[in-house]
Amino acid sequence: MSTGLVLRRALPGDASAIAAIYNAEVLNSTATFDLVARSEEEQREWMGAHEGAYPLIVAEGERGLRGPGPGMVVGFGSLSPYRTRPAYATTVEDSVYVGASHRHQGAGGQILAELVRLARAHGFHTVIGRVAAENTASIGLHQACGFVVAGVEREIGRKFGRWLDVAILQLLL
Ligand SMILES: CC(C)(COP(=O)(O)OP(=O)(O)OC[C@H]1O[C@@H](n2cnc3c(N)ncnc32)[C@H](O)[C@@H]1OP(=O)(O)O)[C@@H](O)C(=O)NCCC(=O)NCCS
Repeated sequence: MSTGLVLRRALPGDASAIAAIYNAEVLNSTATFDLVARSEEEQREWMGAHEGAYPLIVAEGERGLRGPGPGMVVGFGSLSPYRTRPAYATTVEDSVYVGASHRHQGAGGQILAELVRLARAHGFHTVIGRVAAENTASIGLHQACGFVVAGVEREIGRKFGRWLDVAILQLLL
């Protein structure tokens, strides 16, 4: 079934749309362990670090189809280095965010599947998602894409006055 979305590499002009989606989670949820909203300039810097084998992609409304308005960015996803030490170089970490009013329509699944495809195409060996253990949507999303829970790190984050466990979701490519 068509979701009415197309995926493409992010462009500098997407910075404010991406920041709006991301900052809503910074302020209101434990989806990200950032505590302070990103400025548009910080967002641009973060985007600048995502190119080549570490892509940043957006899902936007497709022209001529039902769904979100044409060209409207409804979600994004990225691949980042997992750790800086060289022996981790064959591992990437994924990140997926969909705007609250566009969830449950397949966007997250489409974005994560494309990130997995890109990770495979770039020759990585495994993809890791680090997800707050209470984030059942993201855990479900990863499992639906074939990831398995490799472990849980207990109480390694603290946000909104609560300790947070982190589930490690892993896909071997
Ligand atoms: C996690 C998130 C990206 C899912 O995006 P989405 O567009 O709603 O996901 P989809 O509609 O593509 O769902 C794909 C699959 O994920 C799983 N899933 C999605 N939402 C779920 C939920 N609330 N509970 C359990 N499983 C869920 C399901 O298996 C679903 O497949 P189905 O619709 O056939 O059942 C979205 O909820 C989000 O952006 N949340 C806030 C940010 C976030 O948590 N990002 C991840 C940080 S680690």
